[in-house]
Amino acid sequence: MIYALEERIGRPELFVGRKKELEFFLEWINGIKMKKSMSTALLARRKMGKTAILERLFNIIFFKNDGVIPFYYEIKETKMWALSFYQSFFLTFIYQYIAFKSRKTEYLDTDNIDFSKAIEIAQKEGLDYLVGFIEGASHAYREENVDALWELTREAPKKIASRQKEFIVQMIDEFQFLETMIYRDKECKNLADKIAGGYLSTAESKFAPLLVSGSWVGWLMNMLMKLLPSRFRYYPLENMPQDEAFEMVYKYSQFFNVPVTEETAYLTTQIAEGSPFYISSIFRSGYEKKDLTTIEGLSKTLEFETLDNRGIIKYTWMEYIKSALPRINDKNAKRIVLYLCKHRDREVTRKELQDELKLDMPDTDLELKLEALVKSDIIAQGQTAFDYRGVSDNIFDKVFRGVYQKEIEQFDVKEIKKEYDRSFNTLKRRYRRLQGKYNYQKGYFAEYLIVDRLRVHADEDNEFLKSITRNLPCDFNFSRYSSAWKYNRSPENSHSFNIDIFARAEDPGDYSLIGEVKCRDVRKFSKEEVDGFLVKFEKLKAYENLERALGFIFSRSGFTQEAENYCKEKGIAYSEDQGWLENS
Ligand SMILES: Nc1ncnc2c1ncn2[C@@H]1O[C@H](COP(=O)(O)OP(=O)(O)OP(=O)(O)O)[C@@H](O)[C@H]1O
Ligand SMILES: [Mg+2]
Repeated sequence: MIYALEERIGRPELFVGRKKELEFFLEWINGIKMKKSMSTALLARRKMGKTAILERLFNIIFFKNDGVIPFYYEIKETKMWALSFYQSFFLTFIYQYIAFKSRKTEYLDTDNIDFSKAIEIAQKEGLDYLVGFIEGASHAYREENVDALWELTREAPKKIASRQKEFIVQMIDEFQFLETMIYRDKECKNLADKIAGGYLSTAESKFAPLLVSGSWVGWLMNMLMKLLPSRFRYYPLENMPQDEAFEMVYKYSQFFNVPVTEETAYLTTQIAEGSPFYISSIFRSGYEKKDLTTIEGLSKTLEFETLDNRGIIKYTWMEYIKSALPRINDKNAKRIVLYLCKHRDREVTRKELQDELKLDMPDTDLELKLEALVKSDIIAQGQTAFDYRGVSDNIFDKVFRGVYQKEIEQFDVKEIKKEYDRSFNTLKRRYRRLQGKYNYQKGYFAEYLIVDRLRVHADEDNEFLKSITRNLPCDFNFSRYSSAWKYNRSPENSHSFNIDIFARAEDPGDYSLIGEVKCRDVRKFSKEEVDGFLVKFEKLKAYENLERALGFIFSRSGFTQEAENYCKEKGIAYSEDQGWLENS
């Protein structure tokens, strides 16, 4: 796949998982062609990977080229004169549209764009019907007719789509900034309010529905409910499921060359609660003594990330909190947040806050303060409008307390370190119990362990690995692999399938390996399963143009006799030897 739009995540392979969400939205986008997809808001706490999903969706749709045109725009958190903002919004759309139609990704680079250039390239690419739209916008821009330009800008995707009998998906990130960052005057003194409300009818378009998101989720939801009632469906984005979090840990470990053990990999996924931001920050951490192969090393890295000003996690959250607190403008705000953090396991009523914190303010004022905190996503609303709770994010909680608890109460940050130790002890016990329960001595992460085996020095372990693998061709040797990872042809491709292991030989003369891993306790690998694997094996060989590739199945509980015979007949190597799961 070609990644037309540069993703903020960095190298495309750093994007992990989000399978359920991508499948949902690709289906939703496909539904646009049947005019059945309603504008939707992707909602989640901060840093959960909303932007990553939107950018990946853009690239998949662009690449698929299957009747829906993607438009992605991020509204910046900087004050802008409405005229400049509308110009940027309009031209970004036009350039992305032309890039899609002409299949020329260079038009996605929107650094130097202007109306006359847009007309020029629209004509050059044979898209003359755009010229009228661009001229109209250009005219309104020159006349400084702010309202007309907004109307034209907002309506352009919908109008072009319906006129051309096409479909467009409009992905607008940081949508809430429409409300506070756009000004009617050049000096940015008078807010251009109600511009979001302009979407009342635009958001109903079935030709060009919206998919919006934003980093201030409480605020965004509030704005959608207030200004655009019943125009949007909500799609909540959650933490990554366990298998995707594992995949991310192993992928980042490989990519950033930061080794982990099975145990620390497990602990990382658990302490990060499946947050891609936390996992990524732990692996990217600048902590000098970073060592993720021991629990102590992991704990120290996390402490650094949470408590040290150089930590990515602390830095990110502090930036956020510092921009939120002045908005709330209340000396008691920190005390309230702190109180809720400390009682994170339950909801707290406004009355309790009044009594415990001896707040000297009428209940209606307190309600407004709390509403502002909820809007900023620093605390959460409870079951009723009278109940509140701290956000259920154990790392955010520690960052906040690390900074403010000392200011407010006698408090030693060492307490937080102790809490991490306690959490790791509990998690360690849980991990050991899991191992016992499922007899997962080794193998909870079997496919990753095997991938690691192949990636690091498989050529040096050639004789050993050969001795524990059956049915290898006589000229076979384990060699060096230029990449070894799971293979995922999903969901951006129409024929989606996953393969546990794909190790591409560095030297095309050597065998590449395509493998399946099963770590069941009892049930043996069956002939039918070998058949299923063969289909995927052949597909991958064809997709990747592999001349020399060997199929390999690892099954911890072994193989049925029938399956073994079948592997021999089809030239598939196989093994149940635990040696594959040992560290090399
Ligand atoms: N699917 C993913 N695979 C790998 N890393 C991810 C993924 N999603 C998010 N990340 C990591 O988490 C970080 C935050 O992601 P992103 O900026 O997309 O979140 P967001 O929800 O848009 O945040 P904000 O609320 O600030 O807008 C990214 O920089 C990246 O390191
Ligand atoms: Mg974002």
